[in-house]
Amino acid sequence: MLTIGVLASGRGSNFQSIIDSIASGFIKARISVLITDNPDAYAIGRAKNHNIEALVLKPKNYEDKDTYYVQVVKDLKSRGVELVVLAGFMRVVGRPLVKEFKNKIVNIHPALLPSFPGLHGQKQAIDFGVKISGCTVHFVDEGVDTGPVIVQAAVPVFGNDTEESLSERILKQEHKIFPLAIKLISEDKIRVKGRKVIIKGKKEDIAITNPGL
Ligand code: GRF
Repeated sequence: MLTIGVLASGRGSNFQSIIDSIASGFIKARISVLITDNPDAYAIGRAKNHNIEALVLKPKNYEDKDTYYVQVVKDLKSRGVELVVLAGFMRVVGRPLVKEFKNKIVNIHPALLPSFPGLHGQKQAIDFGVKISGCTVHFVDEGVDTGPVIVQAAVPVFGNDTEESLSERILKQEHKIFPLAIKLISEDKIRVKGRKVIIKGKKEDIAITNPGL
């Protein structure tokens, strides 16, 4: 069974959606550890509620970014982690982690990449005036939100949307496609060829990877 390590910095609603998808049997995997950079993260309580070890690693206690991520890798490896899930981890991850877990780190981003990478993807979409936005699950490489796209979901953007209302609409889709992408990985249905992610399986399996449409 796939062993997952989750990195999160805050609220952890995506973390919760993964916990729930495992509990319901939708994903056959186990979460061996939550690592957070924020001692006040709400995600810590979620881990405790489900008997998942929560580890607080504060970057400021480490000499530099690389040293921090060497420690993160150590803690993930010693707990048997095979897939790293960034669930609202508010940092650009360091090279030691990306190198060690090549195509084994997934992130959720609240926009349709490659549009609106970085912070505040929802606000960027509103400010630009797009009519459709959404969310993206992608593999993590050394850039900011640049890795191969696994699954996306689209939502409409309305004229009277605020950052909050659009974020809420997108978040509902995040909670569907993140577990879906992890399920596909856990079932070994994902292959990466250059920039492209190929999903193995029946036509119906592939059709469900656009749940927002
Ligand atoms: C989500 O909007 C996600 O797309 C982004 O950070 C937010 C995390 O929310 N990467 P939560 O902590 O999972 O509730």
